[in-house]
Amino acid sequence: MATNVHEFAVVNCQLVTLAGPARPRVGPEMRDLGIIPDGAMLVRNGRIAATGKRNAIRAGQVVNAGGRVVLPGFVDAHTHPVFAGNRADEYEMRAQGATYAEIAARGGGIRSTVRRTREASEDELAAAAERYWNWFLRGGTTTVEAKTGYGLSLEAELKMLRVIRRFDRFVPTFLGAHEVPEDYRGRAQEYVELVIHEMLPCVEAEYCDIFCEPNVFPQEQARAILRAAKQRGFGIRMHADQFSADYGSMVAAEAGAATADHLEATTEYGLRALQAAGVQPVLLPASVYGLGLAKYPAARLMIDLGMPVVLATDFNPGSSPTTSMPMVLSLASTQLKMTPAEAITAATINAAYSLGRGDAIGSLEPGKLADFVIHDAADYREIPYFFGRDTAREVYISGALKALS
Ligand code: NIG
Ligand code: FE
Repeated sequence: MATNVHEFAVVNCQLVTLAGPARPRVGPEMRDLGIIPDGAMLVRNGRIAATGKRNAIRAGQVVNAGGRVVLPGFVDAHTHPVFAGNRADEYEMRAQGATYAEIAARGGGIRSTVRRTREASEDELAAAAERYWNWFLRGGTTTVEAKTGYGLSLEAELKMLRVIRRFDRFVPTFLGAHEVPEDYRGRAQEYVELVIHEMLPCVEAEYCDIFCEPNVFPQEQARAILRAAKQRGFGIRMHADQFSADYGSMVAAEAGAATADHLEATTEYGLRALQAAGVQPVLLPASVYGLGLAKYPAARLMIDLGMPVVLATDFNPGSSPTTSMPMVLSLASTQLKMTPAEAITAATINAAYSLGRGDAIGSLEPGKLADFVIHDAADYREIPYFFGRDTAREVYISGALKALS
């Protein structure tokens, strides 16, 4: 079918709308996917015009989904998709017993990706990111939050942002405080000053993120960077409590961050602080799996506390080399004990709200962008259940069919 048709209907599907209140979903709401069995959806000029039972929707042009499930495009609210090279060598070392921290201490880890990313041209980085964007599409993801953080100099961070801006569906986040770069080793405070006084005034991004850990950017430095970022109008996302209990989450709560991400080490005390401050938790189980660790975040407790949980891939060359939201949904069910419905809510509408886009994407409701995916499954539960495969058959962004390569 031509992709420029301004009106068409998708019919013969399990239509998973996620229709509901205009805010992130909490508690039992996370299990209500607004499913229309034998559903249909009318798309006009790139937006959703109507949803309903098959016989209630009429259009000249029809896409027959063949009884498959149709979902909103996944919204991946935490990724690092711009980098040069990869770290398959470190992966092999970890399989033989080396830890992430030991490899980092030897100059590997984030710093090794920084070296290569600095050397790469903008076009080389964009070509690699284009390849990964195609992987995201195959998993059914149509919007990606994209962080810098492998440049760690003004010039290289700006280069990464220019790459991110080449992609319409990447939401830019400045992560200048991802690691203290090699050239500032032992001079972390000077690097913090550089981020505050030279980088933040020049970078254009929607969000500012920081890796807050005692041995990376401790609380005082994180606070200083976040204060400056907020003054300049950035929203705040944070790498918090990946390893240290309630350390980053306290800063995220104080800063009124949009999200606190990771939270593998957070206790109920930290979770309550985040909840009181309205911070959305972004859970990244693929990074726990990818590092071969066992401590997953306490998703059930978060849901019981009424927190609007988000799931994301954390796609990056170190801890989580996957773009696959179906894989993340599987880990959510087997490791976090989230139901498939809760996991899909966390990967669509809740993720969209965490990026300030809940009014435009994340559910199939009239007026929203027609970002939707026909999956190779008859029921949404099959997506996590048949794990280890990317399930998208047809991906539409603003009503246009994307070629899957
Ligand atoms: O979210 N923890 C910091 N950042 C990434 C890992 C980045 C890397 O290893 O390159 C994360 O897990
Ligand atoms: Fe990350």
